[in-house]
Amino acid sequence: MKAIVLEKAGGVENLHVREIEKPNIKEDEVLVEVKAISINPADVKAKSSDEMLTMMFGSKRPVILGWDIAGVVSQIGNNVSDFKIGDKVFGMVNFPGVANAYAEFVASPAEHLTKIPENRSFEESAATTLAALTALQILKGNIKKGDKVLIHGGSGGVGHFGIQIAKALGAYVITTASAENKDYVLSIGADEHVDYRSQKFQEVLSNIDFVLDLFGEESIKKSIKVLKPGGTVMSTLMLQVPENVKTIAGEANVRVQGILVKSNGEDMKTLAMMLAEGSLKPTIHQVFPFEQMRKAHTTVEKGGLVGKVVVKL
Ligand SMILES: NC(=O)c1ccc[n+]([C@@H]2O[C@H](COP(=O)([O-])OP(=O)(O)OC[C@H]3O[C@@H](n4cnc5c(N)ncnc54)[C@H](OP(=O)(O)O)[C@@H]3O)[C@@H](O)[C@H]2O)c1
Repeated sequence: MKAIVLEKAGGVENLHVREIEKPNIKEDEVLVEVKAISINPADVKAKSSDEMLTMMFGSKRPVILGWDIAGVVSQIGNNVSDFKIGDKVFGMVNFPGVANAYAEFVASPAEHLTKIPENRSFEESAATTLAALTALQILKGNIKKGDKVLIHGGSGGVGHFGIQIAKALGAYVITTASAENKDYVLSIGADEHVDYRSQKFQEVLSNIDFVLDLFGEESIKKSIKVLKPGGTVMSTLMLQVPENVKTIAGEANVRVQGILVKSNGEDMKTLAMMLAEGSLKPTIHQVFPFEQMRKAHTTVEKGGLVGKVVVKL
C-alpha cells in the first residue's frame, strides 16, 4: 500500500510517498481502507519538531503521521462486534499516540471509530474528528443552557466546531476572529463577533461563564479578566497550568484548566449524531489529493484558513 512517511523532523521536503506493507490488525482492531484524512496543526507541529516526534513516536524514524480518518472497514479483529466489512467509519485514531494514518490502510482500535451518517461524505466525516472532538470534550458537561461562552479563534478548526457545539448546548456564543471572517462566524451560529486584530476582547467583554482558549498563557490571562466569578477557562495550549496563572485565577475566583484531546468512540457517536441531524457542519477549506500532502501541510502551516484542510485518497 501507499503511505506518506516522514524521514525526520523538519520541512515538508521530508514527507515522501512510499510503498509499504499493509498493517496487521489485533483482535480489538479493524482495518480501514482510508478515503479521507484531515490535517491538524498537531500534524504540522509533530512534523517540524524532533522533540514532539520523539514524545509521540519514541526514537523510531521514519514515522507515519496522521490521526484523523474516514474510510471503509476492510477487515475485522476477532473481538470486534460493532462493525462489519463494508461499514463506512470515521474517527481520531490513537491520539495522543501512533496511528500511522497517512496511508491507504490504517489499523484502528474499533473503540476509536463510529459509523459515518448516511447523508455525510468521507471528506466531511474526516474533517469532523480531532478538532471537533477537542471542542466537544472541552464543552460537554462544562457549559449549560443560557451560559455566555467565549470561543477564541472561531474561524479555525477547533473554533468553528466550538461555536456550533456551544450553540447546540444552548449557550450565548461570542467568538474572536479576524474582521474578514465576521460574516462566516455569525453564519455558523455565533451571536457576537470580536475582531481580535482591531479590538481588545478583554476590554469589550465581561460577565462570561466559560472561555474556550486556543492560544496559551497571554490569552488565558486576558480571558480571566472577562470571566464572572466561578467561571472557567479551558485551553488547548496549556497542559500544566503555571503557578503565576493559578494565582491570578485564584484571585479572580475562576478555574483554569488545560486539556489534551483523547480518542473516544462514544464522543465520535455524539459527533456523528450531530452531523446526521445537521446541528454540526464542518467547513472544508480545501481538499488535496494524497500525493499533495506537502501542499496540505503548507496550507495548514501558513494559517489564515477557515475550517479544515482535508486530504483525499
Ligand atoms: N490540546 C489539544 O488536545 C489540542 C487539540 C486541538 C488543537 N490544539 C491546538 O489548538 C490550537 C488551535 O487549533 P485549531 O485546529 O483550531 O487551529 P487553526 O485551524 O489553525 O485555527 C486557529 C484560528 O485562530 C485564529 N486566530 C489566530 N490568532 C488569533 C487570536 N489572537 N485571536 C483569535 N483568533 C485567532 C485564526 O484565524 P485567522 O486566520 O483569522 O488569524 C485561525 O482561524 C493549535 O495550536 C492546536 O495545536 C490542541
